[in-house]
Amino acid sequence: MTKLTIEDMAIFCKKKGFVYPNSEIYGGFSGFWDYGHLGVELKNNIKNEWWKYHVQSREDIVGIDGSIITHPKVWEASGHVESFQDIMLACPKCKEKIRADHFIQEKLQVNVEGHKAEEINSIIKKNKLKCPKCSSDFEDTQQFNLMFKTNVGPKEDKSPIAYLRPETAQLMFADFKLVVDNARLKLPFGIAQAGRAFRNEISPRDFLFRSREFEQMEIEYFAHPEQTNKCPFINEIIDTELNFYSAEMQQKNKKPVKMEVKDALNQRLISEWHAYWLSTEQNWFTNLGAKAENFRVRQHLREEKSHYALDTWDLEYNFPFGWKELQGIANRTDFDLKQHMKFSGKDLSIFDEETKKKIVPHVIAEPSLGVDRSFLVFMFDAYEYDKKRENVVLKLHPKLAPVKVGVFPLVSNKLEIVKKAREVYDLLKNEFNCRYDCSGSIGRRYARADEEGTFLGCTTDFDTLKDESVTLRHRDTTEQIRIKIDELKETIRKLINNELKFEEAGKLVK
Ligand code: GAP
Repeated sequence: MTKLTIEDMAIFCKKKGFVYPNSEIYGGFSGFWDYGHLGVELKNNIKNEWWKYHVQSREDIVGIDGSIITHPKVWEASGHVESFQDIMLACPKCKEKIRADHFIQEKLQVNVEGHKAEEINSIIKKNKLKCPKCSSDFEDTQQFNLMFKTNVGPKEDKSPIAYLRPETAQLMFADFKLVVDNARLKLPFGIAQAGRAFRNEISPRDFLFRSREFEQMEIEYFAHPEQTNKCPFINEIIDTELNFYSAEMQQKNKKPVKMEVKDALNQRLISEWHAYWLSTEQNWFTNLGAKAENFRVRQHLREEKSHYALDTWDLEYNFPFGWKELQGIANRTDFDLKQHMKFSGKDLSIFDEETKKKIVPHVIAEPSLGVDRSFLVFMFDAYEYDKKRENVVLKLHPKLAPVKVGVFPLVSNKLEIVKKAREVYDLLKNEFNCRYDCSGSIGRRYARADEEGTFLGCTTDFDTLKDESVTLRHRDTTEQIRIKIDELKETIRKLINNELKFEEAGKLVK
């Protein structure tokens, strides 16, 4: 089968109720998407798994949930008001507007992220690049700030301007002192936040990949300014294999190299903290069913780095449109805390018990992940067309599957069997997201459930009426076992948590 494109995925998501184009009845709204009944379940599962793994199961990370609109000074201090800009190419004739760096990358295969407007103008002129729609010359490039502006308070003209946050990150710095004091954290520690972010992207594209409203899951991970080289948890991930693509490899036109973290550290390819966080993040994905071969870790080139970053590595995924950033992991040093100290006049340093001195911690890693891009990764790696079954099987990890159990009466015209299926559904629905389905043949219902990623099918039949047992069907293998109704809940729980093998959970049906 030919590789699934991003357009195919958008069509599949719409057809099955995962994601719809926003306000489609009005012709759609570029850069905005609505999640449907299955999409919202999958998205919530992704966010919950992220929160469990990064916050609830760690002693060194706590969470916050800051507001979307915040004091405008926050964005002045962070540098977003001045520097959160892209360069736009505008066509005077057909009014097409496109992002200069993407356009040049596409046309010339040259990375110009971070280049100044004058440099971009000269590249455009030198290479005689024209508007892709009408072939006219572009106007001179313009800088464009990506933050959405709004007013606060009832009087529009007198209100101070405010912004919809372009990242969740800054609140972790603005609330830093409050969080550290209440949570009694000791370095190294992190503050996590998940929520919406907004960017007025010049050219949103590739379905959910680049939109104007999206969600992020971010951590600011702080270390002592004199202990930025040593990661105390490095042994936990030392054997993880990553596909490394350092700045040097890119400059020398070399290919990425797969190696274990311990070898990369020996070769001084990467810092301990970056190795730790990149591995931790890739492991989070692969533990939830994503395929390791679709990931690589790429270091930013000097000119690509954001204004605040000392070193940045991206966790990249092999999307159908190429290797692209899934998650950025920047070393932001003490840039943000110091900026907020400067702009607010407040002391955000903390007291170091060892040296008895005040210190400003360094953000040695800011793992910053898009929920919507993660959604795409899990969908692409789960999607399989099964030739024998002649339908798509969405092999999502059971913890991510939007529906855990589909409950079906084998036939819908036998009242007792239907009644039993309803009883089973009522038994399970408070614990697992279940779906009762009695329309069409049982084969059709299984196919529908496979396409929606439903992990298990539970069918009541004539034997159920005799011995209170049901058939449980595994989505990925179509294997079936027979199991007693009173064992269902516990068995399903264990199967979802991978504590029990399916074949051992009941009597195999031949
Ligand atoms: N606080 C750092 C920060 O926001 P970023 O690289 O600009 O860094 C982090 O964004 C992540 O947010 C990206 O790796 C991506 O997953 C997601 N993201 C950024 N812009 C996005 C957009 N327009 N649409 C969807 N996801 C986006």
